[in-house]
Amino acid sequence: MTATVGQNAPTTHADLLAWVEEVAALTKPDAIRWCDGSDAEWKEFTDHLVDRGIATRLNEEAKPNSFYFRSDPSDVARVEDQTFICSETEAGAGPTNNWAAPAEMKQTMSELYDGCMKGRTMFVVPFCMGPIDADDPKFGVELTDSEYVVISMKIMTRMGADALKAMGDDKPFVKCIHSVGYPLADGQDDVAWPCNDTKYISHFPETREIWSYGSGYGGNALLGKKCYALRIASAMAHDEGWLAEHMLILELTSPEGKKYVVCAAFPSACGKTNLAMLEPTIPGWTVKTLGDDIAWMRFGEDGRLYAVNPENGFFGVAPGTGYHTNPNAMRTIEAGNSIFTNVALTPYGDVWWEEMTDFEPDSLTDWHGKPWTPEAEVKAAHPNSRFTTPISQCPILSDDFNNPKGVPVDAILFGGRRASTVPLVAQSRDWNHGTFMGATCSSETTAAATGAVGVVRRDPMAMLPFIGYNANDYLQHWVNIGENAEADKLPKIFFVNWFRKSQEGKFLWPGFGENSRVLEWIVRRLEGDAEAIDTPAGAIPAEGSLNVEGLSLDPAKLAEATKFDAEEWKKELPLIEEWFEKLGNVPDAIKAELDKLKQNLA
Ligand code: GDP
Ligand code: PGA
Ligand code: MN
Repeated sequence: MTATVGQNAPTTHADLLAWVEEVAALTKPDAIRWCDGSDAEWKEFTDHLVDRGIATRLNEEAKPNSFYFRSDPSDVARVEDQTFICSETEAGAGPTNNWAAPAEMKQTMSELYDGCMKGRTMFVVPFCMGPIDADDPKFGVELTDSEYVVISMKIMTRMGADALKAMGDDKPFVKCIHSVGYPLADGQDDVAWPCNDTKYISHFPETREIWSYGSGYGGNALLGKKCYALRIASAMAHDEGWLAEHMLILELTSPEGKKYVVCAAFPSACGKTNLAMLEPTIPGWTVKTLGDDIAWMRFGEDGRLYAVNPENGFFGVAPGTGYHTNPNAMRTIEAGNSIFTNVALTPYGDVWWEEMTDFEPDSLTDWHGKPWTPEAEVKAAHPNSRFTTPISQCPILSDDFNNPKGVPVDAILFGGRRASTVPLVAQSRDWNHGTFMGATCSSETTAAATGAVGVVRRDPMAMLPFIGYNANDYLQHWVNIGENAEADKLPKIFFVNWFRKSQEGKFLWPGFGENSRVLEWIVRRLEGDAEAIDTPAGAIPAEGSLNVEGLSLDPAKLAEATKFDAEEWKKELPLIEEWFEKLGNVPDAIKAELDKLKQNLA
């Protein structure tokens, strides 16, 4: 018999109750559990996961109250091929998204959902993206059959009883359905990571719904994150005149004590989490973190853009994270209360991944569960292995993190992973030129999505996989934001590239904490006291204007990293033209910027 919502649901929200009943009737779980987000609930769920051998409790001294998961080897990243924007019309999804008609997708997925939660509990997970006391709080409810998802949502969002209470009887919320697609017959044992070869991550932007099936991986299953806070929210933002962007938010304080807010958009696994928690190598400068992945930006009464981080935790790439690269991320996870997925396990019951330490442990259990030694040919941790950790534990969290009004943004950075062509830093001439920089942003693909790694693709504003509607309309929205604001109140736009390589294939710029030198140059530009050279690709640091005091970097390498090379840019032109042809309906203001680039290069 299928479970029913019953008389004791902790809400009188009629729309929510009816929807929970309807989804339960379709998916047929054995039980329904309303989640309150309490510590007692976390303990109950994590105990239950450990007792069944699905999670491993880490050594309490090393990582208190923390848990380790190994996924199915096929379910390790976002599945962009199986991600759909199901707008009413195909044009609504535009040239960059997979599209299916909403009714057809709902038919297909209803067949998959039919009975998909048999033998499992359906968890009702109420949450709020951004502070619950915001003027217009953005609620969601995720129905899921995965306890891993419930405990991850507790870290990543403001989840549970407070969110449900604030929803009252009738506040609107985004309806999110998630199933791993692995029902259990009577007496059938569960597997460590249930999932299904058939996967769909579907978004219905007009009705603000998300339907996900077949995967337990973060970006596919924690529906408050990329699915809601980027894809659905970008559609909301388009309608309501704000921006939902794939950006970190940081607060930088100069030695003179002046504060600046910087937002930066880089594709997945291209350095957002690292820059967000940067430990400056230049004396007198400090960084505080507001967010590492998503920024919602709205105009304040003073006409400036204010950024809020809708999330409540970090879902960070583990490999490459260590005390030498991102000490603040290490301090955040060492406080415990975290989840680790697909990293390696030490004999001591702690976690390890490539480049966490400058030595390799003698023996580990790798992410496949196999014994591993430094002689092994394979990596111990999956390249997209992740830590999930509460943002409140970040030692440099900004005092404004919970400020529902957000913080006024001074500069926006776009970036990517480009071995050539794109200089370390360049400033746009104005908003539309900056929008052009964002629109033509390109990057080598990474392990954060399934498919080939290292292929250069255009990734507008690092939003290619996350724009919830037509990309041409999205670019027009950026142009409109510029037109509707006073130019001097808008953030200044820059482009950065930490990943330019030498002929020998080595990174030219040391990156990580040294990126503070680039941030310094950027805010000195805002103050009008850093010298630059105008190039067709924007204003780049004049010789001597980037602070390299105390940096041991060969001047020739520095010149390579920062240079503008007209020949390389001439090769870039046809790629940009090809991209604009693919988009098909690029705003005139952005096409005009391409014409300017061509003229300037001629
Ligand atoms: P996110 O997914 O955009 O948040 O990216 P992360 O900050 O997690 O970084 C992804 C990968 O890029 C990690 O392996 C980092 O070690 C590496 N990375 C981040 N910042 C830099 C940098 O400034 N230089 C270099 N060379 N690598 C970086
Ligand atoms: P990120 O994305 O790499 O931008 O942190 C997380 C994800 O792929 O879901
Ligand atoms: Mn990240």
